[in-house]
Amino acid sequence: MLAETTSFTLDGIAARMIRVEVDVHRGLPKFQIVGLPDAAVREARERVRAAIANCGFDFPLQRITASLAPADLRKAGPAMDLALAAALLGAAGELCIEPLAGWSLVGELALDGTVRPVRGALAMAEEARGQGRRGVIVPEANGPEAALAEGISVRTIGNFAELAGLDSGEVPGQVAVPAEIRDRDELPDLADLRGQSHLRTAVEVAAAGGHGLLMIGPPGAGKSLAARRMPSVLPPLSGEEILEVARISGACGIGDGTVTSSRPFRAPHHTVSAAGLVGGGSPPRPGEITLAHCGVLFLDELCEFSRPSLEALREPLETGSVTISRARGRQALPCRFTLVAAANPCPCGRGEDDPRCRCTEMAARRYRAALSGALVDRIDLVVAVSQPSAEALAGPGGESSTAVRERVITARELMAGRLGEGRTNSGATPEEAGQFKVTAAAAGLLAEAHQTWRLSGRAHGRILRVARTVADLAGSTAVGEEHMASAIQFRRRSAQ
Ligand SMILES: Nc1ncnc2c1ncn2[C@@H]1O[C@H](COP(=O)(O)OP(=O)(O)OP(=O)(O)O)[C@@H](O)[C@H]1O
Ligand SMILES: [Mg+2]
Repeated sequence: MLAETTSFTLDGIAARMIRVEVDVHRGLPKFQIVGLPDAAVREARERVRAAIANCGFDFPLQRITASLAPADLRKAGPAMDLALAAALLGAAGELCIEPLAGWSLVGELALDGTVRPVRGALAMAEEARGQGRRGVIVPEANGPEAALAEGISVRTIGNFAELAGLDSGEVPGQVAVPAEIRDRDELPDLADLRGQSHLRTAVEVAAAGGHGLLMIGPPGAGKSLAARRMPSVLPPLSGEEILEVARISGACGIGDGTVTSSRPFRAPHHTVSAAGLVGGGSPPRPGEITLAHCGVLFLDELCEFSRPSLEALREPLETGSVTISRARGRQALPCRFTLVAAANPCPCGRGEDDPRCRCTEMAARRYRAALSGALVDRIDLVVAVSQPSAEALAGPGGESSTAVRERVITARELMAGRLGEGRTNSGATPEEAGQFKVTAAAAGLLAEAHQTWRLSGRAHGRILRVARTVADLAGSTAVGEEHMASAIQFRRRSAQ
């Protein structure tokens, strides 16, 4: 006999629907799975066999063939176990799986029949909706994540034995309750950063306009401290962004399954490979930049990162998405993130201006190679950070993140009014930037800087966007001279 169920497999961060057909025939007992299964899918045979037997069903001692369609798509992971076991019992005539018509099943089976969580439950529920399915049955632990998808019924089951209820004509499981969205996490506060008023302004401008920020300074000046406080001054994720972030973290299996409106903050170690940073490998996996989507990617000790890793960042930084190519087609992964980077001025960290610096000219030049060139040309704000004074460190804390965030939110509202919902000045197209209202004095200042610093075409456009953000934070409709002057200040280091 023949029976069919549907399930999903993950392809990057997207879910693809799989038809699971099982044929049970008389013949020598054999169980084979066809349709490009990976090792985890092939091993499903052993899990399914044990789970069926341990949940009080009879495993058919006949010739069993399971086919996973479409046949040319590589199937990965154990998420299809549940659908496979249900189709097998349906084909063997042990279970009436008719009530499952229109439903898809997702879940890994333990040998005792427990249904274990899988990666990508939200993406799968959304794909089920897209494919016009009536509903999806997921493992209990995935229920809150999958139920975030609206317009599709989501039920959860804890054990394969619950499928026995199908014989009474009912769809098994409990109705899933969507995860609660945590409104504000306890994040480290910008008030902890003492002194460093220039750096504080840069953090505020970066947060408001979505501009990249590079901090260069000696060890212990507060660079890492400032970077880690960036999420606390960013506005909360919008409803659509919450889903995007939950979909990505669910597919990558990171986090504890809870959902928050705080923006992601990713700080990969400098030994990260190019594939780990931008995505890739075999099978292809999303990289850190995709995990930082809608949030912050912090590259601490920028000069220690390998050249290929940094070079790989150039294109995604400009386009907001990264395309991973492999033998069977290409996939574009989202990666709109704000880049924050920190570096010391030379290998010893003190900088050439400090008489204690003993770095040779060669070593310093090699070290600084990462601080020049194409990547840094794409970073809008470059700030030289110096050691905080004793008075600043002993003094009161700075302004709190709450106060800064309010200004950031107001500025972002102005940008959304000008550019469209959810967009910031850093992402303005050249045409949009050309429409910015700029006073004659400000335009003169930019022309002068262009001459003096021999700016690249890109640098010219980036300064204009930063100036627009500074003006938005000040609530000014036109970009004035003082706004332009401070934007040029933030560019100087990279233009030298
Ligand atoms: N401006 C500051 N305000 C308050 N504390 C500070 C400040 N600067 C440094 N500190 C203290 O020094 C510690 C180290 O600072 P941080 O890690 O930010 O240094 P860094 O600039 O990243 O140095 P490195 O270049 O070595 O990474 C902080 O945890 C904090 O306790
Ligand atoms: Mg540091």
